[in-house]
Amino acid sequence: MVNVAILGFGTVGSGVAEVLTMNQALIDRRTNQQVRLKYILDVRDFPDSPYKDCFVKDFSVIENDPEVDIVVETIGGATVALDFTRRALAAGKSVVSSNKELVATHGYDLLQLAKEKGVSYLFEASVGGGIPVLRPLTNCLAGNEVEQVCGILNGTTNYILTRMIRAGLSFEQALKEAQDNGYAERDPSADIEGHDACRKICILAALSFDEHVYPEQVPTQGITAITLADVDYANSCGYKIKLLGRALRMDEGKICAYVAPHLVNGSDPLAGVEDVFNAIKITGNAVGDAMFYGRGAGKLPTASAVVGDIADIAKDVKTRKCNEWGPGSKELVETPDALAFRWYVRANGTMDAARKACGELTALARGGAPAQEIAFLTEEMTQAQLEVKLAGLDVQSVIRVLA
Ligand code: HSE
Repeated sequence: MVNVAILGFGTVGSGVAEVLTMNQALIDRRTNQQVRLKYILDVRDFPDSPYKDCFVKDFSVIENDPEVDIVVETIGGATVALDFTRRALAAGKSVVSSNKELVATHGYDLLQLAKEKGVSYLFEASVGGGIPVLRPLTNCLAGNEVEQVCGILNGTTNYILTRMIRAGLSFEQALKEAQDNGYAERDPSADIEGHDACRKICILAALSFDEHVYPEQVPTQGITAITLADVDYANSCGYKIKLLGRALRMDEGKICAYVAPHLVNGSDPLAGVEDVFNAIKITGNAVGDAMFYGRGAGKLPTASAVVGDIADIAKDVKTRKCNEWGPGSKELVETPDALAFRWYVRANGTMDAARKACGELTALARGGAPAQEIAFLTEEMTQAQLEVKLAGLDVQSVIRVLA
């Protein structure tokens, strides 16, 4: 028998209980074990829940029960969740987590603790919701030097952008829909300001380049400044606006990581990733491009990834799943300042003035634009070069174009 305790009975925690129950017979068959839910920790009461006999309010009940093999942390945040994760690992229990904030900020320490204790710390659900991507990256692609990871990593913002593009909804209307569908974080600013995608690219970068990349090392820009005008201009030239997280291998073993909106060419498979779906493109020096696609948020898709980790551990609870990276350093991570892009620019002024400032450019047009509004795509240049050229223009919006 393999006993599981779930910490936090929110969207993901309740989804994990549901999947473990719904698919119990096949999980048992595939793991050759009896995988059973023993405890659910939550401060709230759930008297009508089918799992009502499992609820406890005191973590030490779980910590001190030698029958608990796997602790599932779906509390979120990096305070209580950090304390309980440390205590569970220290008590010799494997931990499965959907908590990207915790992994992105404390992953190195927690993996070290898991190693010391001979237990596993797995977090497939922390990136890409239900998409299997971390295990393929660390196992199936282990023979590659990863050159780049680029992905749509946040379901809420992809949903918002899709609804703006497809239905002409305002940013606020589309955010409300995403929240109603249960995709958004409790505080949606983590989604729309790009912090959630930032945590996920940190985890992908760590697993790709074997060193911890911390969120504060990653320049992060969200989608709050994107307007329907930008969406229309992008559309007019065959591009879609997508929030991307990117991590690239640079010279001398350095890593560049950042999160920002980009214009993505309609012919790029990332442009076709819509609604709550996420996609992660990994470029390896042997495999070339490999892309992973699926539901990036939501109760059962995320629970699917958590239960996959539970099943992986349950097959052989005594053997630690090897999963680790180095501590990282301040000098290791570079900003995207050295990278050259084409840029989308929307401004108030004349195309003549824009050409004088920027040289060669591609003018864009959209129906219903105010008389003074212009928009264009520049030639390739770095951000610093662009800023010098745009200094005299009344710029309203600047977005990178993905090459
Ligand atoms: N709020 C997150 C998203 C949930 O929208 O992608 C999954 O991490």
